[in-house]
Amino acid sequence: INLAVFASGTGSNFDAIIQAIEEGTLEARVSLLICDKIEAPVIEKAQEYNIDTVVFNAKCYEDKVAYERALLHDCQSRDIDYIILAGFMRLIGPTLLEPYEHRILNIHPSLLPAFPGKGAIGQAFDKQVKVTGVTVHFVDNGMDTGPIIDQEPVRIDPADTRADVQKKIQAVEHKLYPRVIQSLLVKEES
Ligand code: GRF
Repeated sequence: INLAVFASGTGSNFDAIIQAIEEGTLEARVSLLICDKIEAPVIEKAQEYNIDTVVFNAKCYEDKVAYERALLHDCQSRDIDYIILAGFMRLIGPTLLEPYEHRILNIHPSLLPAFPGKGAIGQAFDKQVKVTGVTVHFVDNGMDTGPIIDQEPVRIDPADTRADVQKKIQAVEHKLYPRVIQSLLVKEES
């Protein structure tokens, strides 16, 4: 099974997915990284692993339909089966959603539907919630609104700093995302 990762940040989830593939716990291949930020550290990671990388600048296209058409072509020409969003900060529109229905996943650092959108970890911390977590869901046209596939709670202890919470969340993300992807692939094959 062929994956494209869409990421625009540091790429720690991208790394975790590659590690899981190398360890054999995720039976897939990452054939493409798509990134919309030229300076994103994830690009260097993809280069280290020799993964094809497409960096695009949304401003160079007439509109969202135009850049998504280009991304669709990048995916279809490489026979991509699933699109894995990992810190990609743009909403996905119908140009990609329709051909990849139920084949676009996102990971979000909260127990959705709590704290959707940006800054989810900080918001949970500021609200002093005692339990937050991580959600993996199918992507629809909303912001972090698609059907939930799996979630894992993370406890916020009284002594935790915001940075501690972020660390705990990331550790959970890095295990949960490859596991959820693998479970979908297994389902597909059975
Ligand atoms: C993760 O926290 C993910 O939940 C959110 O964006 C962040 C990406 O981090 N959607 P990284 O680039 O994978 O380190």
